[in-house]
Amino acid sequence: MEIKKVGVVGCGAMGSGITQVSAQAGYQVTVREISDEFLNRGLGGIRSGLERQVERGRMTAADKDATLGRIKGTTRLDDLAESDLVIEAAVEEIEPKRAIFGALDKLCPPTAILATNTSSLTVIQMAAATKRPEMVLGLHFFNPVPVMKLVEIVKTIVTSDEVVETGRKFVESVGKTPVFAKDQPGFISNRLLAPYLIDAIRVYEAGLGTAEDIDQTMVLGCNHPMGPLTLADFIGLDVLMHIAESLHAELAEPRFAPPPLLKRMVMAGHLGRKTKRGFYTY
Ligand code: 3HC
Repeated sequence: MEIKKVGVVGCGAMGSGITQVSAQAGYQVTVREISDEFLNRGLGGIRSGLERQVERGRMTAADKDATLGRIKGTTRLDDLAESDLVIEAAVEEIEPKRAIFGALDKLCPPTAILATNTSSLTVIQMAAATKRPEMVLGLHFFNPVPVMKLVEIVKTIVTSDEVVETGRKFVESVGKTPVFAKDQPGFISNRLLAPYLIDAIRVYEAGLGTAEDIDQTMVLGCNHPMGPLTLADFIGLDVLMHIAESLHAELAEPRFAPPPLLKRMVMAGHLGRKTKRGFYTY
């Protein structure tokens, strides 16, 4: 299986990052968003990220132009029909994802691999919406994608070994390091990270310390690059709540339940950095 053309569904924080690193690695990438407004915002972010690299002397202007030249933006899913690998990074809800997988299955050649960047939904549920479940896997990137070195490769109970191997080669070709995880709630990363972030919110809710002091504790005391409440704001409180809900729904352990404060912040539309208000204001 050889990957030359990559399709990406979604050009938000994750989809635009995946588009960028794939194009930088030499792949032809078609990225689809649902509206021109979202598409232009995502593509604009890629352009400014690459321009920053040129300014810092890490990339030549010619390489930046060549990278941008390999990216095609579209609002039509049909334009992904030629892809060898499609990575879905759309909204983190199972029904829209299943609809996307069903549509991609009809559009793409039978040899195409279909991947999801989901952080906590069950990959086999998406695979089951296709007639090629053995060709479906998880490729879970981390935010900010151009910086974070890890990709979790998620193998379902039916993903073929050849597809996993092709996924590994692709991940390495875009300069990332793979780890392999089972298609179980939260995979490895969010099984560990989500309870930590949830606990930090509980510590805050219980008044053990201010947001700043909770974060400083982990930054200065444990050398974490960001404190947990800053990280929760960075990931998005809605995203964190979805992860907590999926873990809690399947594993039924109280420690995964979203804390009441998290739910209320999401209800209030305080989703963290992206809405300029979360545990901090931006
Ligand atoms: N896009 C591209 N590059 C970025 C970036 C972005 N959004 N944000 C920062 N960078 C680059 C900067 O250009 C800079 O590069 P340079 O040193 O080569 O010039 C480098 O990253 C460091 O940035 P800064 O100096 O501005 O800031 P920091 O040193 O504070 O680093 C950070 C920023 C890399 C985001 C760091 O704070 C960090 O690693 N935070 C933790 C991030 C993390 O844990 N991510 C995982 C979230 S969980 C997830 O994604 C999974 C999901 O399922 C929830």
